[in-house]
Amino acid sequence: MDKYIDYLTENLDGRRVKHSIGTAEQAQELARIHGGNEQKAYIAGLLHDVAKGKCECGPEKLAKEYDIVIDEVEQSNPELIHGKLGAKIVSEQLGIEDEDILNAICWHTTGRADMSLLEKIVYIADLTEPSRQFENIDVVRELAKKDIDAAMIYALNCVIEFVQCKGYTLHPNSTKAQEYFLKEEKNKFELQ
Ligand SMILES: [Fe+2]
Ligand SMILES: [Fe+2]
Repeated sequence: MDKYIDYLTENLDGRRVKHSIGTAEQAQELARIHGGNEQKAYIAGLLHDVAKGKCECGPEKLAKEYDIVIDEVEQSNPELIHGKLGAKIVSEQLGIEDEDILNAICWHTTGRADMSLLEKIVYIADLTEPSRQFENIDVVRELAKKDIDAAMIYALNCVIEFVQCKGYTLHPNSTKAQEYFLKEEKNKFELQ
């Protein structure tokens, strides 16, 4: 784990390192509650923002330097790129091969349909770690302990509302995630 912390301290500012450790601990706790793999959750949480800061280089340079495909929405909001870029860096520079960890890092910015438990845990841990503050964060924290899918619906609504208020373009994967979780919830309700 020291190697990962060293990489973070070399590449991120102190505030972001603190956020990463907070996310790791929160992810581990959610994995414990929901029967997930605690070690994977800790690692994915710790490294989820590894590429934060690199997005300033601009989409064209990143696509070329890291050999990644950048879509239209990411072009207009380069901050979104740090998920997929993070997965690439973690795989190539830190030697992590676990697909679930790489996907959890890749999708933590937008979410997606049919997320794995680890992907949901990292998405929620990123938003709810102790240094985060936003209106109704306590609702997400409480939901996350009881029902991770319900927490995803609530969290996605908060994020989508924030993105729209700011006038940013919403990534289609966030809309797909929201539709997916709402459909799942409806199916669960109908089965009862
Ligand atoms: Fe992030
Ligand atoms: Fe984050």
